[in-house]
Amino acid sequence: MNIFPKFSLFLGFFILLFHFILPQLVLSRPVKQPFKSLQPLEGCHKGQMVKGLYELKQYLKKFGYLSYPQLNNSLTHANDDELDDQLEAAVKTYQLNYNLKVTGTLDSQTVKQLMVPRCGVPDIINGTSSMRSGKKRHHDGSNTLHTVSHFSFFSNMEKWPDSKRNLTYRFHSSAQISVVQDLQSVCSKAFARWAQVSHFTFKEVAEGTTADIEIGFHRGDHGDGYAFDGQGSTLAHAFAPTDGRFHYDADENWSTNPGQNMMDLESVAVHEIGHLLGLGHSSVQEAIMYSSISSEVTKRDLHSDDAMGIQYLYGSSK
Ligand SMILES: *[C@@H]1O[C@H](CO)[C@@H](O)[C@H](O)[C@H]1NC(C)=O
Ligand SMILES: *[C@@H]1O[C@H](CO)[C@@H](O)[C@H](O)[C@H]1NC(C)=O
Ligand SMILES: *[C@@H]1O[C@H](CO)[C@@H](O)[C@H](O)[C@H]1NC(C)=O
Ligand SMILES: *[C@@H]1O[C@H](CO)[C@@H](O)[C@H](O)[C@H]1NC(C)=O
Ligand SMILES: [Zn+2]
Ligand SMILES: [Zn+2]
Repeated sequence: MNIFPKFSLFLGFFILLFHFILPQLVLSRPVKQPFKSLQPLEGCHKGQMVKGLYELKQYLKKFGYLSYPQLNNSLTHANDDELDDQLEAAVKTYQLNYNLKVTGTLDSQTVKQLMVPRCGVPDIINGTSSMRSGKKRHHDGSNTLHTVSHFSFFSNMEKWPDSKRNLTYRFHSSAQISVVQDLQSVCSKAFARWAQVSHFTFKEVAEGTTADIEIGFHRGDHGDGYAFDGQGSTLAHAFAPTDGRFHYDADENWSTNPGQNMMDLESVAVHEIGHLLGLGHSSVQEAIMYSSISSEVTKRDLHSDDAMGIQYLYGSSK
């Protein structure tokens, strides 16, 4: 198993909008309840020093938006609470990716978006932003151009080889929570949605046997280098092909039928399976591959943007 996960998120085909210095996926101290404290940042703009900006920097770093040159840290604002040039640039890129007004200030819409729970897979890897770079143009079957979409891939377009279309999956959790018992039915429905628009089939196998994909609940630091963060913020993550790992954060409030403060297991499964197959994040809010989802929301049906993404990688459906 690959120790360095290929969280290498891809990018637009033709236009690379953003270039960052190789972001190191360094995870510093886990931020508990990261953005309960974000509200005070509302209205913050460049030059200001406000408590909580350090945590925001950690967040934007984690998702690929911010990296400081590896200098003596006392020469940069990497470890303080100042809204410096780098942070302003990162906020602008974030705003662009999330279809917000690009101001570089922490206006209320931006603060609101930052507080929505999200997937742990970064939006930008190795300097390449996936989400917005693409007014991607594709040839469709009839060879006419100009389909505009926003799906994306991992940076090296990792995908399953042609010999792998009948994938197996198994469950294994290091954290036992009550919804573990629902995983089988939830994931079988989630896999079926992708099977419908692709050549893939998915079959569950017993926990002890080898499988292409492994799904389970884990909490905090669970040994893959991408520690979960307790309640809120990061919900789950999955690795690019052909790694096959898909982890739910066991500390969230999971449900098969979400009400107040509850996250929908199946919506998140459909999203993470997209990563397992090679898709990155999309800037289309209605797409399954959009990175964030609020509690109480169910979003289980693939959007045409998702289907186009998978078909771009593997060819059109049956
Ligand atoms: C970033 O790019 C370098 C060079 O292309 C590659 O070796 C490395 O694996 C990439 N990192 C990630 C996280 O994809
Ligand atoms: C970093 O810079 C500060 C101030 O210029 C200096 O006091 C410190 O010794 C430097 N640290 C390193 C590791 O170079
Ligand atoms: C997947 O399974 C089907 C049905 O058993 C078979 O026809 C097909 O060749 C398999 N595909 C691959 C790539 O092994
Ligand atoms: C999880 O549920 C508890 C009890 O209802 C609630 O206090 C908490 O805020 C919820 N957590 C999240 C992240 O919504
Ligand atoms: Zn994701
Ligand atoms: Zn994990």
